[in-house]
Amino acid sequence: MRSNSWRSLVAATLGVFSVGVNAQTGTILDLGSLLAGQKNLTTFYSLIQKYPNILLQLPSYSGVTILAPNNDAFNKIPYTQLNKAFADNDADTITNVLEYHILQGTKVAAQLIPGTPVFLPTLLTSPNWSNVTGGQRVENVKQAGDVVVFVSGQGSRSTLVQADLMFTGGVVQVIDSLLIPPTALTNTTQAFNLTSFEGSLYASNQLSSFESPNVTMFAPQNDAFTALGPAISSMTSDELASVMDYHLVPNQLAFSTSLTNGSKWLTQQGENITILHSGNNVYVNSAQLLTSDILIANGVLHVIDNVLNPQGPGAQPNPAIASQAPVFASASQVNSLPFTSAIPCTVSCPVSSTSGTATSSAGAKATTSGKTSSSTMTTSSSKAIGAAIARETGFNKAAGLMVALGGAVMML
Ligand SMILES: *[C@@H]1O[C@H](CO)[C@@H](O)[C@H](O)[C@H]1NC(C)=O
Ligand SMILES: *[C@@H]1O[C@H](CO)[C@@H](O)[C@H](O)[C@H]1NC(C)=O
Ligand SMILES: *[C@@H]1O[C@H](CO)[C@@H](O)[C@H](O)[C@H]1NC(C)=O
Ligand SMILES: *[C@@H]1O[C@H](CO)[C@@H](O)[C@H](O)[C@H]1NC(C)=O
Ligand SMILES: *[C@@H]1O[C@H](CO)[C@@H](O)[C@H](O)[C@H]1NC(C)=O
Ligand SMILES: *[C@@H]1O[C@H](CO)[C@@H](O)[C@H](O)[C@H]1NC(C)=O
Ligand SMILES: *[C@@H]1O[C@H](CO)[C@@H](O)[C@H](O)[C@H]1NC(C)=O
Ligand SMILES: *[C@@H]1O[C@H](CO)[C@@H](O)[C@H](O)[C@H]1NC(C)=O
Repeated sequence: MRSNSWRSLVAATLGVFSVGVNAQTGTILDLGSLLAGQKNLTTFYSLIQKYPNILLQLPSYSGVTILAPNNDAFNKIPYTQLNKAFADNDADTITNVLEYHILQGTKVAAQLIPGTPVFLPTLLTSPNWSNVTGGQRVENVKQAGDVVVFVSGQGSRSTLVQADLMFTGGVVQVIDSLLIPPTALTNTTQAFNLTSFEGSLYASNQLSSFESPNVTMFAPQNDAFTALGPAISSMTSDELASVMDYHLVPNQLAFSTSLTNGSKWLTQQGENITILHSGNNVYVNSAQLLTSDILIANGVLHVIDNVLNPQGPGAQPNPAIASQAPVFASASQVNSLPFTSAIPCTVSCPVSSTSGTATSSAGAKATTSGKTSSSTMTTSSSKAIGAAIARETGFNKAAGLMVALGGAVMML
């Protein structure tokens, strides 16, 4: 049998079990019995019954934490990019999305109120979905008033609304909206308006290294590129590749918590970048970190306010001023966004015999913004979701599945 350490840990933390315990016998319930008794988790329970292979991975983990979206969370799907998958009963997507809701290890609420952000590994490991060593991460942060928040792909936030439903294989924590699995780099750059950065990766043929597994990247905001103008837009593809490679830290997941003062990170270009903390600001060389810890399918992305220059790796900020000067000679402000024309068109493309062919293979990886696609899908899908849920709540196979669920969990 598996070690009972999680159980003693939980007992020590909680003192007394108040939920997930059978009132008659005092034993902890299996997952199926626990979910069956939760009025606010009926949609989640029906999905687990419909796609029981979500739980097939469980026996290889000693205790898990299921971040179970409540029924209200599923009602919000029409407003998210997961809408189409749930409307179409896309089993592969739903399975992977729900695996992203299972954390490795049993985390009771007391352990989910961190002083600093933590990045918890999940059971989402399919390379079709995630290229992060050790399972895709969810960020767990505390907000004012001890509100526990989980941050997932594209900055989506879910709040813990009901804590510590214990079951035989771990614990269920109820959240108010679905976690969004971190998306591919180009989906994310579109969502965060990092279009010059994205275009520069196409223009320098470096997109594939930025999409390689387990990486950290520093993405300059659009204004960083317009501030340089021809100083960057007139570079050769090779020169640009060297500059962009200086923004990529391969084989490392450097979340903000590891960007410590004075730390150096070896980039794909071959030179180090250096982190500097000053007051409440964090700098990468002389560029200021604006938004940290955006989770992407293959790692983590941080937004910075200037393009980094590998020719001047010793650049230091002047923390006394709000925005740092560009570090390229003859920088000259322009209005149009450099490199955005290098992004292959995928939607409403002008009919052109020349541009279409050259970019056709790269075009498959380009994307439209998540916002556009979700807003266009809203109407039709709210109906479809309702229908799907209605179908799933007919529990005709419930008894057999509950046995299967109990069995899967009891094998732990
Ligand atoms: C269940 O959902 C209802 C409606 O959203 C809410 O008022 C109630 O507090 C929830 N119950 C639990 C136990 O979370
Ligand atoms: C990844 O996707 C391919 C093509 O859709 C599929 O054949 C394969 O089974 C998927 N792999 C996993 C681990 O789901
Ligand atoms: C993960 O990497 C593999 C091989 O490099 C690639 O085919 C796949 O598309 C990547 N998956 C994601 C989600 O980026
Ligand atoms: C994207 O960035 C550019 C340049 O800063 C700005 O002009 C534009 O309004 C931004 N777009 C969105 C949707 O935020
Ligand atoms: C992925 O990143 C983690 C964290 O930085 C590191 O420990 C690990 O070695 C990396 N894995 C690979 C295969 O590079
Ligand atoms: C990068 O930094 C590391 C750690 O400080 C150091 O050992 C290494 O020599 C540096 N590499 C370069 C190319 O400066
Ligand atoms: C970071 O390190 C630098 C150089 O060692 C030091 O001057 C600075 O005070 C440190 N910043 C913080 C916030 O400790
Ligand atoms: C990401 O982009 C692809 C097209 O390359 C698109 O099919 C997919 O829906 C996008 N995903 C999200 C979550 O936006």
